[in-house]
Amino acid sequence: MDHTDNVISIEKYRKAAAHYDASAEYTMPLRQRTINLLQLRPGQCVLDVGSGTGLSYELLLKGVGEQGKLLAFEQSPEMFEQAEQRKQRAEWHHVWHTCAAGETVQLPQLADAVLFNYVHDVSRTPEAIANIMRQVRPGARVAMAGMKFFPWWTGPLNILAWMKNRPYNAKASDLWAPWDIVQTYCDSFRMETTQFGMGYVANGIRR
Ligand SMILES: C[S@@+](CC[C@H](N)C(=O)[O-])C[C@H]1O[C@@H](n2cnc3c(N)ncnc32)[C@H](O)[C@@H]1O
Repeated sequence: MDHTDNVISIEKYRKAAAHYDASAEYTMPLRQRTINLLQLRPGQCVLDVGSGTGLSYELLLKGVGEQGKLLAFEQSPEMFEQAEQRKQRAEWHHVWHTCAAGETVQLPQLADAVLFNYVHDVSRTPEAIANIMRQVRPGARVAMAGMKFFPWWTGPLNILAWMKNRPYNAKASDLWAPWDIVQTYCDSFRMETTQFGMGYVANGIRR
């Protein structure tokens, strides 16, 4: 296993963690839209992949209710520390989360739904997706959102997309179809572009 991209990503988030929540505030409507695609039901167990500072936790917990469970993992110690503080402040006892990489994380139970919200480096790593999908129940709803390249004919606009991605992602130039590894594990997969072509939301059902 080549850990180079994990090391690069951890280093990027060591710098980005302090201002991450402030910079991600404008993402909340799209985050909610992506979470809605999971059609969460009370009592379900939902997985938040690369959960960062835990910005999706409250919205996911609303979906699964008091009887449900949230599982999450995040490899950056600085991002995870903020998620842990968020969990403690809110006294969420039905959140299980760990500081671990997608390639190796072991969850305590199978997930009934899984969110990939702006986790490009995870989505582009076949080993991580294989490990995660092994721990997601067949029939589970899968939802993802992230950045992508504009259509090829827009040319230089993609330099902008790459530059926006670079501070956050080790695999910043791999933006043509960032959903396609996850798609291979799903049936009924749909992708829609957002942000005038620079973003996407997608969803499917774990095969
Ligand atoms: C743009 S942030 C998104 C965080 C969160 N999903 C959100 O919506 O706010 C991307 C996150 O993916 C994490 N990440 C990148 N590669 C990872 C990997 N291989 N395993 C686990 N987490 C990873 C980063 O550390 C970072 O916190």
